[in-house]
Amino acid sequence: MRCFGSPYGQTRGLRVAQAATRAHTAPDHHGTAAAGTEPPIWDLVGETPLLPLESPRAGSVRHAILLKAEWLNPGGSVKDRPAREILRAGIAAGVLPRRRVLDASSGNTAVAYAMLGAAAGVGVTVCVPSNASPERMALLAAYGAEVIETDPLEGSDGAIRQARQMAAEFPDRFWYADQYGNPANPEAHYRTTGPEIWRDTDGQVTHLVAGVGTSGTLMGAGRFLREQKPDIRLIAVEPDAPFHGLEGLKHMATAIVPPIYDVALVDETVFMGTERADATVRALAWEAGLLVGWSTGAAVAAAQYLIQRAVPDMRHRMRVVVIAPDGGQRYLSERRRLIAEGG
Ligand SMILES: Cc1ncc(COP(=O)(O)O)c(C=O)c1O
Repeated sequence: MRCFGSPYGQTRGLRVAQAATRAHTAPDHHGTAAAGTEPPIWDLVGETPLLPLESPRAGSVRHAILLKAEWLNPGGSVKDRPAREILRAGIAAGVLPRRRVLDASSGNTAVAYAMLGAAAGVGVTVCVPSNASPERMALLAAYGAEVIETDPLEGSDGAIRQARQMAAEFPDRFWYADQYGNPANPEAHYRTTGPEIWRDTDGQVTHLVAGVGTSGTLMGAGRFLREQKPDIRLIAVEPDAPFHGLEGLKHMATAIVPPIYDVALVDETVFMGTERADATVRALAWEAGLLVGWSTGAAVAAAQYLIQRAVPDMRHRMRVVVIAPDGGQRYLSERRRLIAEGG
């Protein structure tokens, strides 16, 4: 069960957060934050439900697709998990909150750092392509993060280059968290996302489908699940072109490949077009009441393709877990018409 199981109680408002922050700045003699001293909001990360897709058009076989509803994390995305793990590592190493955490992000990790960092008294600076959705930019401002906007034409790679440059120039000011290369990113999914999927499917999961950005989700959850079930299929989803509308995903052939991405772990990559993701997002909203983000639309479309392609015998045994990294609310200012009118 998720609860505010902290020693601070629930009723003391801001004072609670301040007490937690002080505890955070004083790692114990092992170099780790003392047990039970994390801000209460950190405790709400993870333990997201698996939703079976009921709509006949969203999944050709009942319950074959199980959606891991990551938009229910307190920061609104799957990136709360790696952000918490990375911040923990920085605090344990004693570099946070002395320095500001610095990273590149297409938006969701930035929001996760901003929210979790605010709760722990850690300053947050993020390099974000300036075409990140207005909702994400507004959230960053709301949590008080420092935002460095980068060239939208350079996508997440431009943000990475900017963050590297700032980290090199100001080593005393920033701690470069480097979510693309930091082992704490896949580790978060190995320790939480993977075990949750295994437990909640009673070990029946046959496929894990995840869009790849940093690849942390697929690497960490995938590695855990492969250890439990060697014949599980691990499926990556990538955009089918360098310029695309699938925020958060990388077209690896033309991008800086994240150091944590181990392609040998992946059984298959499905390349997905933005238009197909558009149609799937719309179908999920209209037919299942699930307003998901575009990378989720792409991943669900990939899962549907895998199911349709399978021979009937296999199809009925498939339990395909699809990671749903964020919700569609984060895109409404730009894409409301697309969902409402289909174009
Ligand atoms: C909306 C969205 N989808 C998918 C991903 C990819 O997740 P990962 O970085 O774990 O590969 C991200 C990562 O930022 C994201 O923001």
